[in-house]
Amino acid sequence: MRAVTYQGPHEVRVEEVPDAKVEAPTDAVVKITSANVCGSDLHMYEGRTDLETGRILGHENMGTVAEVGSGITRLKVGDRVSLPFNIGCGHCRNCQAQKTGFCLEIGSDTPGGAFGFADMGPYQGGQAEYLRVPFADFNALRLPGGTEHELDFTMLSDIFPTGWHGTRLAGLEPGESIAVMGAGPVGLMAALSASIQGADRIFVVDQHADRLALAEKVGATPIDFSEGDPAEQIMEATKGVGVDRGVEAVGWQAHDHEGVEHPAGTYDTLVDVVRATGGIGGVGIFLPADPHGPDELMQQGRLRFPFGKLWFKGLSLGTGQADVKIYNRRLRDLIIAGRANPGFIVSHELGLDQAVEAYQHFDARDEGWTKVVLHP
Ligand SMILES: NC(=O)c1ccc[n+]([C@@H]2O[C@H](COP(=O)([O-])OP(=O)(O)OC[C@H]3O[C@@H](n4cnc5c(N)ncnc54)[C@H](O)[C@@H]3O)[C@@H](O)[C@H]2O)c1
Ligand SMILES: [Zn+2]
Ligand SMILES: [Zn+2]
Repeated sequence: MRAVTYQGPHEVRVEEVPDAKVEAPTDAVVKITSANVCGSDLHMYEGRTDLETGRILGHENMGTVAEVGSGITRLKVGDRVSLPFNIGCGHCRNCQAQKTGFCLEIGSDTPGGAFGFADMGPYQGGQAEYLRVPFADFNALRLPGGTEHELDFTMLSDIFPTGWHGTRLAGLEPGESIAVMGAGPVGLMAALSASIQGADRIFVVDQHADRLALAEKVGATPIDFSEGDPAEQIMEATKGVGVDRGVEAVGWQAHDHEGVEHPAGTYDTLVDVVRATGGIGGVGIFLPADPHGPDELMQQGRLRFPFGKLWFKGLSLGTGQADVKIYNRRLRDLIIAGRANPGFIVSHELGLDQAVEAYQHFDARDEGWTKVVLHP
């Protein structure tokens, strides 16, 4: 089969690899119809993780079941399914508590497994014609058959639940205000989620005009950090009150207007603008170590972080990978009911053979390259 493989910093290749196959009775093989490129792929693409060369990328996968193992009782060949980026075993302590992002029996040294991901187990990704899905009865979410809502449903594997997770970690309630750092796909999904949940005012911070324009489409107020300190802009817009909640959707490669990395820059802003006793949901990725990164503290996974102010304001802070399975069933049903359209952010639908240029453009955050969906 053909697949997108990691070849080292800033290099992916579309190549012939061994077919995905059923390896355990609880596996299924899914024929991929859509596999998205994610901001998380870019951390790996840029060589900022220890992903080994040759691994197939892709953790945002959907398709139809092509083959099932002898232990599969629920899924049938031909079922259309969305696959959470996390792989859960379904029976460990964390999976039973719905914390499938932190499965204890699927990952490597630390809890949590995922498709095509550094430090989250040995699993291949789905930017390929076929994908092996472990514990498929537990992990796959069934979708209505056919091809309807493909671009909306393909957001169920990661970024729609992740954006939603950010708002839940932040504790958003209807009628509250929220600031989202980052207008990448995850930040945009957090803004969409906040809007569906009845936020009264949503700010989205970025410096890319095309991405901020998409934030406006879901009713958010864009804040361009290239035009001045985003905290000051939000405080001014709220007459000094600030916001109830904040979502961090950038991660440790957050940078200033010139591109100089400030891993804690977005947290600086949120601690300033979230009002006392409010909450922050951190879904942008941070790592235990970033040995080759430019920031000395972050090389050891440490942040220069205004903890004193956070504590003094009584802010709560939630973090981590999204437990996709908590949300994906309900978010699927919002899509079917016509109440959510996360596919609105898709800018490019490409064949697998165009993956190399897709990575280059998306990594450069070239104008108009918001979200790429590959159709193998
Ligand atoms: N927790 C999870 O489960 C989970 C799931 C998916 C993605 N992620 C992570 O979420 C983050 C965002 O993902 P994405 O796909 O949207 O990535 P992306 O790289 O496409 O978007 C990030 C955006 O942040 C903006 N940005 C950079 N510095 C900024 C700053 N100082 N202030 C405001 N905006 C700034 C960039 O211009 C860009 O538009 C990544 O770290 C990704 O790895 C986490
Ligand atoms: Zn992703
Ligand atoms: Zn588990």
